[in-house]
Amino acid sequence: MKGIVFTEFLEMVEAKFGYEMVDKIIEDSSLPNHGAYTAVGTYPHHELLRLLDQLSQASSIEKSALLHAFGTYMFKSFKDGYPGFFEGFDHAFEFLMSVDGHIHKEVQKLYPDAILPSFNVSYEELEMKMIYSSYRRLSDFALGLIEASMNHFHHEHSIEKKQLDADGAEVEFTIRIKP
Ligand code: HEM
Repeated sequence: MKGIVFTEFLEMVEAKFGYEMVDKIIEDSSLPNHGAYTAVGTYPHHELLRLLDQLSQASSIEKSALLHAFGTYMFKSFKDGYPGFFEGFDHAFEFLMSVDGHIHKEVQKLYPDAILPSFNVSYEELEMKMIYSSYRRLSDFALGLIEASMNHFHHEHSIEKKQLDADGAEVEFTIRIKP
């Protein structure tokens, strides 16, 4: 997993819980590099899951809620770091449609060792279905990103999440814009 995901995660932990919490979860996760991540490096994704586990234990907040919040946080860093991907869109459904078909493909070219999820997307005027698929099972992170995308384009909306398999590698989101 790309280092930017780790650096942003630890930045979020510092912003929401303070630096002592960053120190604590790095310590408690017994990581090989002691939490020294660089944005351009690549690290095993289970290290992120270990940090998440430790944060969940130390904060008594469910992992799903923490991942959701992390998705929302990450949206802002994508917006600041890659403004070009947001240009030319005035509707969230068109933007979300471009994640699988364009954005993540460009990301893959920039970072050949990135492993991106896949999204099967279809939409009508007021309803979009996105089927998330990734063995990393980070659908709650996707949920935070989807929600932040809807808010970015100022759509009042609801999101329904349905797990399609036993372990959460396939998840269907139904996103409805309030008429
Ligand atoms: C400008 C916008 C975006 C950029 C630049 C971007 C880039 C990235 C990058 C660099 C990763 C890490 C890949 C790796 O570590 O191997 C990633 C992962 C991910 N992205 Fe995006 N992304 C963007 C928007 C979105 C949006 C809007 C969604 C949700 C619909 C999304 C869903 C995900 C998910 C769920 C992952 C975690 C990996 C997984 O589940 O397997 N991304 N993205």
